[in-house]
Amino acid sequence: MAKKSDSSHVSPNATRRGAHTSYRKKAPPPQNGHASSDLRSAPASSSAFILREDGTIEADEDTQAGDQTRPTAPSPPHLVYRNEARGIWLYHGNSLELLDAIANKYPDGRFEMIFADPPYFLSNGGITCHAGRMVKVDKGDWDKSRGPELNHEFNMEWLRRCQRVLKPNGSIWVSGTHHVIFSIGYAMQQLSFKILNDIAWEKPNPPPNLSCRYFTHSTETILWAAKNEKSRHTFNYQIMREANGGKQMKTVWEMAAPRNGEKAFGKHPTQKPVALVERCLLASTNEGDLVLDPFLGNGTTVVACASLSRRCVGVELESNYVEIAAKRVEAVSREPSDLFALPAPR
Ligand SMILES: C[S@@+](CC[C@H](N)C(=O)[O-])C[C@H]1O[C@@H](n2cnc3c(N)ncnc32)[C@H](O)[C@@H]1O
Repeated sequence: MAKKSDSSHVSPNATRRGAHTSYRKKAPPPQNGHASSDLRSAPASSSAFILREDGTIEADEDTQAGDQTRPTAPSPPHLVYRNEARGIWLYHGNSLELLDAIANKYPDGRFEMIFADPPYFLSNGGITCHAGRMVKVDKGDWDKSRGPELNHEFNMEWLRRCQRVLKPNGSIWVSGTHHVIFSIGYAMQQLSFKILNDIAWEKPNPPPNLSCRYFTHSTETILWAAKNEKSRHTFNYQIMREANGGKQMKTVWEMAAPRNGEKAFGKHPTQKPVALVERCLLASTNEGDLVLDPFLGNGTTVVACASLSRRCVGVELESNYVEIAAKRVEAVSREPSDLFALPAPR
């Protein structure tokens, strides 16, 4: 159990136990290339895990914690870092399990905003250019495709759960390349999210295309959607307009890849720039709002939240990444956000 203090470091129990993009209560594979009707109509499964007041999670009596047949992240997810002064909770485990536990405790929703950067399903033997060298695309087991139907089923499952834990006026941002983003968009339509914008994040210095048989990939898409058609989502129009020199901000955002300093505690193969997540936060949340990142990676979302005074819950399958995330957020927490600000009350 995590210590009761304002700020706890990563628990030594958070050992690396491998990565599986797995989830419990797997639905049967879809028929004929379409998502099964079961998936469309079924409510997200009820959780066998109980979220306690202190943020830790326990398994109910009927649930055997952990799947002993293969290496997985801890089950139920393990609270490995918390900073109550900043409002930050980081879990090591499977986001689907955490989302079920949160939805059980907060059936009317808990988060104002979600930033999700899910597996892209692109690590399947292709080649790319890294630091001037030709290398195989292998970002990790979590990024391997299981075929379009199962990939889509996974996207339906985590998006359904995200929709349940959003507050009625909450919104979600999801980033991805063409390998995953069409499935995400389709799943959002199936689940009756209200799609608000599709942002093209343009990278000014993309790696060259070595095969010379395609254009150089230089954009990623970020879909922004409200919980449903009835949602009155937050959009800080004036802040975005001012950030754009007094003109309406467009849906093409040019931003560089993460700077070296953002990788000071360790690298993640698909790490996002802090500036990108900060813009999403500034556009769609207010100070003190609670944000969720179900695929935390190296913790870019939690770093952006800490620097903009938003609260954040993050969950990550791989222990080494969640440890880096905790170190990054500790470093931000030590930086005074305002020269003359008082220390946070203890
Ligand atoms: C695209 S990366 C996110 C990178 C992150 N935005 C950053 O800037 O560092 C996706 C992450 O999701 C994690 N992941 C995959 N499946 C997961 C699951 N079911 N639950 C929690 N994390 C998962 C992977 O280990 C990987 O680190």
